[in-house]
Amino acid sequence: MKHQLVIVLDFGGQYNQLIARRVRDHGVYCEVKPYTTPLDELRAMDPIGIIFTGGPNSVYLESSPHVDPAIFTWGVPILGICYGCQLMAHTLGGRVTAAQEDSAREYGKTATYFETGCRLFRGLPETSVTWMSHGDYMEKVPEGFTLAARSDACPNVAIADEERGFYGVQFHPEVEHTQYGGDMLRNFLYEVCHAAGDWTMGDYKRSAVASLREKIGDGRVLLALSGGVDSSVAAALLAEAVGEQLTCVFVDHGLMRKNEGNEVEQAFSKWAMNFIRVDAEERFLAKLAGVDDPERKRKIIGEEFIRVFEEEAKKVGAVDYLAQGTIYPDVIESGVGNAAVIKSHHNVGGLPDYVDFKEIVEPLRLLFKDEVRRLGRELGLPEYLVSRQPFPGPGLAIRVIGEVTKDKLDILREADAIFREEMAKAGEDKKLSQFFAALTNMRSVGVMGDGRTYDYALALRAVNTADFMTADWARIPFELLDRVSVRIVNEVPHINRVLYDITSKPPATVEFE
Ligand code: XMP
Repeated sequence: MKHQLVIVLDFGGQYNQLIARRVRDHGVYCEVKPYTTPLDELRAMDPIGIIFTGGPNSVYLESSPHVDPAIFTWGVPILGICYGCQLMAHTLGGRVTAAQEDSAREYGKTATYFETGCRLFRGLPETSVTWMSHGDYMEKVPEGFTLAARSDACPNVAIADEERGFYGVQFHPEVEHTQYGGDMLRNFLYEVCHAAGDWTMGDYKRSAVASLREKIGDGRVLLALSGGVDSSVAAALLAEAVGEQLTCVFVDHGLMRKNEGNEVEQAFSKWAMNFIRVDAEERFLAKLAGVDDPERKRKIIGEEFIRVFEEEAKKVGAVDYLAQGTIYPDVIESGVGNAAVIKSHHNVGGLPDYVDFKEIVEPLRLLFKDEVRRLGRELGLPEYLVSRQPFPGPGLAIRVIGEVTKDKLDILREADAIFREEMAKAGEDKKLSQFFAALTNMRSVGVMGDGRTYDYALALRAVNTADFMTADWARIPFELLDRVSVRIVNEVPHINRVLYDITSKPPATVEFE
């Protein structure tokens, strides 16, 4: 089935994929194309609307990106954002100049006043906050356009030619700081482009499967599966697409939470792919014996992981593709049309040097985290896997403070499972960004029955955060903490004290090590 399409024409702004994602959120299929795409090619795609993105340039410079002016006569609605707005004004006979006065440059949150008769702002409040980031200024708006929004510093924050379906905004409706940005994009899609809303994650899955089949052909694919959300969804998508041509290597380093390894294996049992689970617990623990420095633990685990994976890859033999679960936020993108990727995050550092393959495939490269989770559900992965919190690569080794032993890991696994179970029962788990137990290296005196104990203190940690750069400790109910504590000291031998971490980040970090 053919879907309606909106094209995001990329002029090199930072938020281009975010615009595409917002359009998809509104149920409209969307593709990002570089501004250099020939007009004929764009027309052949038959879009219902086009969005010009922002960009770092100034339209009045010869060297800046421009468009074929014929784009404005073909009759398709256009929304220009920031640079895109200025480009539309400039091309259609307006005048854009560098703001002379600082007051006309606008950065950050700005009170903005809207003409709510304009289709773009229909149904929205007359005053709200928008996110601005522009140094240029539209001195003269082109013929046929009216002013549709202003700020205290700027009379033409938005321009509209309702007849032709052309709209330009100086602010960024796609970022969360713009209060009603999502509604404005929806208005553009539904009020101006008359979208039908005919696109869903199910459609995305089908088209992703089809394009992976086309790309991979009868080639063989290898993927290192960690059990985290990204690699799991990438594995499921590839399994759906190429089945037995896919081999997943799941290195069980013995540092996972209770039942986690079995859960991952179980989740993939429905696909006819090659699933290799390597039981490497002994190897990892032997390497970690006597090591208490957190960074050394990380290094040892990372290196051992590569070694194990390499051995398994050799057994598999030459493959055509190495698949990775890289998602959009891992890709710090720049350059027009995705040309220049400044940093590419590899889920398993260094792998490409060790494994014989021709090319990397990254099927989630354009998706944001919550889209990846939705795709995972669509593929039939269980909820506990797709809604999983971040779990560090070195696993419980950095939650057992000091030397890691099998006994300590087992104690921690039991206690952590109780914490997770009680949090889920109380419905607190969905409210938090991350929570877990850590086994401290401290032993202290307690009393149990009539006897003295000298056992470990367990720490509980729960945080809320938007980006994990800073985090607040979570105020979870005392009654819940009490239930968790009572169960842990009663059910888990060698723990006689439970502590709750009330430090935010900074100055603490989320993990203890
Ligand atoms: P910190 O402790 O740095 O944690 O405040 C921030 C986020 O990163 C995760 N984390 C790691 N993830 N390998 C990983 O893959 C690591 O070595 C590692 N250390 C911390 C942590 O769980 C939290 O989500």
